[in-house]
Amino acid sequence: IKRIDSAEVNGKRVLVRADLNVPTADGKVTDATRIEQVLPLIRDLSQRGAKVVVMSHFGRPKGKRVEEMSLKPVADKIAEMLAPISVHFAPDCIGEEAKAAVNALEPGGVCVLENLRFHAGEEANDAAFAAALAELGDIYVNDAFSAAHRAHASTEGIAHLLPAYAGPAMMSEIEALTIALEKPHRPVAALIGGAKVSTKIDVLSNLVEKVNLLVIGGAMANTFLHVEGRGIGNSLFEPGEANTVEQIITNATESGCQILLPKDAVVAPELRKGAATEVRSVTDIPDDAMILDIGPDTVAEISARLADCHTALWNGPLGAFEVAPFGEGTFAVAREVARLTEEGGVTSIAGGGDTVAALNAAGVTDAFSYVSTAGGAFLEWLEGRELPGVAALKSA
Ligand code: 3PG
Repeated sequence: IKRIDSAEVNGKRVLVRADLNVPTADGKVTDATRIEQVLPLIRDLSQRGAKVVVMSHFGRPKGKRVEEMSLKPVADKIAEMLAPISVHFAPDCIGEEAKAAVNALEPGGVCVLENLRFHAGEEANDAAFAAALAELGDIYVNDAFSAAHRAHASTEGIAHLLPAYAGPAMMSEIEALTIALEKPHRPVAALIGGAKVSTKIDVLSNLVEKVNLLVIGGAMANTFLHVEGRGIGNSLFEPGEANTVEQIITNATESGCQILLPKDAVVAPELRKGAATEVRSVTDIPDDAMILDIGPDTVAEISARLADCHTALWNGPLGAFEVAPFGEGTFAVAREVARLTEEGGVTSIAGGGDTVAALNAAGVTDAFSYVSTAGGAFLEWLEGRELPGVAALKSA
C-alpha cells in the first residue's frame, strides 16, 4: 500500500475519502471523533500546497437527495475545526457544481463535497459515477477504514482510476489490526460480547482459529450456557443456534483455543434501571430471573487469565452496560485491560460502536493501545475477510 506521505502533492487536486458518517442531533455534530481522525491528513495536505477535496457518505439516503442527510452541517463543523484554513462546500459531489467548487480552490484550500450516497452510482460502484468523481482529482487518498468494507465507487472503483494512496488514519488502523491478529505477541485473548451469536458466527469461527483464549460475554454467552444445558431463566438467548455453538466449541478444541464462559452472573427480574439485583452462579439461575451482567467471580477469572496474555482484542459489551447497574462487569474488565496495557505491556485493541461507548463510560478509552471507530469494517476484519477498500489500495 502506498502512503500519501511519499507522494508529491504540491498544486495537485487531492481527492480524500473520509468517513464523515458522524452522529448528529438537530443539525449539529454530537461526536466529532471521525472528523478528528481525518484532520491531520487534511491539514498536512493543505500545508503541502494541495487543493484538498473531501468526499464521504452520510447516512443511508439510498441514491436520492435527502436534505436531512446533507453533509453541509458536517462541513461547517470541519470549517470550525480547521480554522483559519478556508473550507468550502460543494452542493453536489459530481458534475458542474462540484467541478466549479474544485476549480475555485487555491493551493492549500479545502472543499467538502455533498453526500456521495445522493447518487445511486456510489453504492452500485458504477463505473461512470467513479469516473465522474475521478475527474475532480489528480490523486486519490483513502483515509476511511470504517467504510473500507463497502465496495463502493468512492472506496473501490476510483482506486483503479487515479494514483491511489492510504492516509495516516487508514494506515494506523491496518497496522493495529495486523498486530492484533496476523502477527500478535501471544498468548492472545479475544473478548467478544453483544446480544446475538447469529450476527457474530463468522467472527467467532475465525477467532477460535487465531486466538488462544476466547472470552464470551453478553447475551451471546446465554446462548452458549443454554446449549450446555444450563437453566438461564428468562434470559435473552437465541434458540436454534445449538449446532452453530457446538461447531464453534469443537473448532476451538481442535485449534487449542480455550473458551471462557461466565461462571456467575448479575441477575434481575427485568432489564430496568435500578432493578433489584442478585449475584448467582450460572448453575443456579432462578426461573424468573434474567442474566444481565457477568458476576464478580467471572470478572476475577477473566482478569487472572488476561494477566497471562500479551494481546487483548475486544468487541462487544459483556452485559447490558447501557442500563445501570448492569455495566459494572464490562467496566471492571475494561479497567483491568487498561491497567494491563499501561502497567503490563499488553497490546489492547478494541472496536465497534457499543464497545467504544462502554470504554468511554468506563473512562478508559485513552488507555487502550488502539480503539477503532469502525463498526461493520472492524467486524468484517475480525471475520478474516479482505476489505474491498483495502484490497483496492493494495492492488493500485
Ligand atoms: C459506519 O458508520 O460504520 C460506516 O460509516 C459505514 O456506514 P454504512 O454501514 O452505512 O455503510
